[in-house]
Amino acid sequence: MKSNSQKSVTLDPEKIPAHVAIIMDGNGRWAKKRLMNRVKGHEQGSQTVREIVTACRELGIGTLTLYAFSTENWARPKSEVKALMILLKRFIIGERGLLEKNNIRLNMIGQKERLPADVQKELNTTMDLTSNNTDMVLNLALSYGSRQEITTAVRNIAQKVQSNALGLDDITPDLISDHLYTRSMPDPDLIIRTSGEYRLSNFLMWQAAYSEIYISDTLWPDFSKAELFQILKNFQERDRRFGRVTCSTSNDG
Ligand code: FPP
Repeated sequence: MKSNSQKSVTLDPEKIPAHVAIIMDGNGRWAKKRLMNRVKGHEQGSQTVREIVTACRELGIGTLTLYAFSTENWARPKSEVKALMILLKRFIIGERGLLEKNNIRLNMIGQKERLPADVQKELNTTMDLTSNNTDMVLNLALSYGSRQEITTAVRNIAQKVQSNALGLDDITPDLISDHLYTRSMPDPDLIIRTSGEYRLSNFLMWQAAYSEIYISDTLWPDFSKAELFQILKNFQERDRRFGRVTCSTSNDG
């Protein structure tokens, strides 16, 4: 049973992160603990996605990125990949109403062309349908991997240099950011990973340069709005220096 005690947590509305990204891990272990098939864990995980999308919208988070399927996940058993694609399609179709009602725009980052044709079709339909929604961007990372994203960006930039559209001096961190899937988004302020693993697993590695990272022991299907509130409270108490010093520790005022 999920805890639902966020009432005791007071958040500073001025310090709500613009972009939260989540590595939703632990679906398989959740199912294993209950002697269930791993797919049951993914099904329960989809319910959590719904709850967390709604909570982030209520909180005024501008962009929520969810790591739903990595470039490495293609190597999972065929039956699990198939089940995940079915769940994704179900979510993309089934939550159109929720996205519309909450003024949320659906976007995706990753290799869209590798997804099954029917998933691509429904994804395009939902993205078109919600393209004018302005309160939040729900960014699904699908067949996403940072190394692939950065490799593609480097190739595109090299091509522009080769054709003299760009000079070597034009290659700056901003230019590289502009060639990533996330080009129009702020970098994530906060990256949450569930299920107690301390790694980024090829997720937003360029964009995470100054992200705050929070590791939760909770398995994704058990993750709740209440825990999200507690994590945001913890985020708001952190001192983000971006490599600089704070006023209180600086000698030059
Ligand atoms: C990691 O858990 C989770 C995934 C690879 C898939 C995430 C998918 C969902 C939450 C459901 C579908 C998504 C949407 C957006 C509707 P794992 O299987 O690696 O868990 P384990 O580490 O315990 O085995």
